[in-house]
Amino acid sequence: MGIMLKDKVAIVTGSARGIGRAIAEIMAREGADIVINDINLELAEETAGSIKEAYAVQTMALQANIAHAAEAEEMVSAVVERFGRVDILVNNAGITRDSLIMRMKEEDWDAVLTVNLKGSFNCIKAVSRPMFKQRSGRIINIASVIGLMGNVGQANYGASKAGLIGLTKTAAREMAARGITVNALAPGFIETEMTAVLPEDVRAAMLKQVPLGRMGSPEDVAGVALFLAGDTASYVTGQVIPVDGGMVMY
Ligand SMILES: NC(=O)c1ccc[n+]([C@@H]2O[C@H](COP(=O)([O-])OP(=O)(O)OC[C@H]3O[C@@H](n4cnc5c(N)ncnc54)[C@H](O)[C@@H]3O)[C@@H](O)[C@H]2O)c1
Repeated sequence: MGIMLKDKVAIVTGSARGIGRAIAEIMAREGADIVINDINLELAEETAGSIKEAYAVQTMALQANIAHAAEAEEMVSAVVERFGRVDILVNNAGITRDSLIMRMKEEDWDAVLTVNLKGSFNCIKAVSRPMFKQRSGRIINIASVIGLMGNVGQANYGASKAGLIGLTKTAAREMAARGITVNALAPGFIETEMTAVLPEDVRAAMLKQVPLGRMGSPEDVAGVALFLAGDTASYVTGQVIPVDGGMVMY
């Protein structure tokens, strides 16, 4: 148990499972009170309960579909009402609806852009008021290497994550004067339920592109998110940090 984030309040969207859950856990381990947001309330409550028990911090499970601006606003209002502040926002909620461009349905394009890009914007906008008032804050957007390098079958996803990187840089510039940093992580090939559905040949082909020769774990991503949330990263803003075993080097 550490004290890196003692007295901080962190919202992690889509954190009932996967990468978001690992980020919530490591931030709780460092003393932050944690808001587990998800569309799946039952799983969010289970995750919030087990984190509270393991790390003796306060947790709150909040059902909200961040794709809807009003729900993102209500979520942040409920957090400020309960904790009086919000120090860290991790925009982690994300979905895939893969297919080749020629076959991609309009609703699959819209769904991915709406959750991954607009949803992150909705949450950034919602926390901007309390963070401006506090004159401090940390926003961490979970993008993807696909937003940097593209991927066959992921036009919607790649565009949403590239958009999220552009949003990160603009938000970083707009919010810098108030002591708020905004950065993005670009995870590579991470072992979660999102990637569990990929066929074996696709997994093997992806692994060939990873210099470190293995898939990442949610904890691999969480460790870098923790760094960005902590005091030692206070001079880092507007950056995109790949967490990908070396897939993208720049
Ligand atoms: N797994 C990977 O290899 C990988 C790689 C790069 C980036 N990412 C990104 O990391 C993030 C987390 O991915 P994961 O692999 O843990 O996925 P996951 O599917 O295991 O978890 C995503 C969670 O988000 C929730 N969610 C979905 N839509 C939501 C919405 N509208 N509002 C609130 N919650 C919502 C889901 O219910 C789920 O619990 C995503 O943004 C994903 O794009 C994942």
